[in-house]
Amino acid sequence: MSIKEYELLSRNVNKQVEDELKRGYLSCLDVQLGGGCNARCVYCDTPLYKETCEVNLQKVEAFLKSGKINYIFVCGLGEPTAPANIRYFKDILFLADKYKAKVSAFSNCINMDKELFDYINRGVYNVIFKLDSFDSGYRKSTYRISDSADKAMQKNVETLSQIAKSNKSSFTQVAASIVASKDNFDYMTDLVSFCVANNIFPKIGLLENAGNSSDTFDDKSLTKIQISQIQSFLKNEYGVDDLQSLKMCPAVLGSIFISNKDKVSLVSGLATSCKWFGLEDNNKEKQHFITEYDVEEIPNDFYYSVTDAILKYRLLNLPFVEDALSQTDKTIIGGCGGDPRQILKNMVDISYYQMEQGKIFRASLDKHIITQEEIGKTITKPEDLEITR
Ligand SMILES: C[S@@+](CC[C@H](N)C(=O)[O-])C[C@H]1O[C@@H](n2cnc3c(N)ncnc32)[C@H](O)[C@@H]1O
Ligand code: SF4
Repeated sequence: MSIKEYELLSRNVNKQVEDELKRGYLSCLDVQLGGGCNARCVYCDTPLYKETCEVNLQKVEAFLKSGKINYIFVCGLGEPTAPANIRYFKDILFLADKYKAKVSAFSNCINMDKELFDYINRGVYNVIFKLDSFDSGYRKSTYRISDSADKAMQKNVETLSQIAKSNKSSFTQVAASIVASKDNFDYMTDLVSFCVANNIFPKIGLLENAGNSSDTFDDKSLTKIQISQIQSFLKNEYGVDDLQSLKMCPAVLGSIFISNKDKVSLVSGLATSCKWFGLEDNNKEKQHFITEYDVEEIPNDFYYSVTDAILKYRLLNLPFVEDALSQTDKTIIGGCGGDPRQILKNMVDISYYQMEQGKIFRASLDKHIITQEEIGKTITKPEDLEITR
């Protein structure tokens, strides 16, 4: 039996997004909602439950109207279906449907309804749901949820399995996020087998040392031997080479990132779109801000001016990114983005391709065109960036 790829993290979608990037277009939005959540997971990497969502949906729609956005990623802070976020999340799904884009979002899937299942059924909403154990006691103590919330969650997992099973295409719109630690190591093969049998993509992520898990990380993280046992299982059963190989996130390079405070930004220095990429500490703001347009000021070329500003910042930071790549032998935190070194290498290759082909900014207004002199100038390392060496 083989593993069906989760469509929005698939090699196919990665290739499409990369091809658009080579032509000078960002084809994804990466929208961060508020930190509100209906669970309190013991390992939660972003326990910022009071952070509000201030994303302006008129701006989201302005980006979609350009016709260039095909995918929207909702990866954090909190829970998209929690009361504080659900209205934004459903509006995003509505807009995606209207402009023929697809949404990928992580969710604990405690609160689901007919409307959300309908979006999943139609492939508008691609969901990565939480699946760490089949044991109810384990879930209740790990997510710190009530018995009724746990029962709702399990019922929803059954519905998701049915939806995934009935999808006859070569991809699936349902993935399971399995946070692998010593606590659930013994369940790992059962969890993966369940997923594959139900057309669900098993997105295994190793426990990360962040947020609530910081205190227990040393005790709970898997040993090298345990990781290689999981790898051997995946290789022998399904021919998959490693834990990361099928789950590159195209949004890391190919997106316009909108924070919960409604700011478009990039990671300082490394110039990746995804806020979580390259940060040692998720709670520290190390962002380079691109735009703070008021809604009343949204220009007709909004998408193009923002895209150009992002790509320009990236080009200007290439010497720094190349330096980081050449001097870093340890892995820079990548989280769900896939192999971090590979992503930075892609960024460098794509940027040089854009320059060689003269394709960058071809769709832009004159005022955004970057000159060769600007690209060539020496860049100093931004003060606020820390990289693991
Ligand atoms: C920040 S959560 C937000 C979405 C949603 N509330 C959820 O938990 O599915 C995004 C993903 O990161 C995973 N995650 C949270 N804390 C983690 C940690 N310390 N290490 C690894 N993965 C973690 C979650 O299980 C989830 O799949
Ligand atoms: S990991 Fe997700 S579900 Fe758990 S507390 Fe954090 S945001 Fe909520």
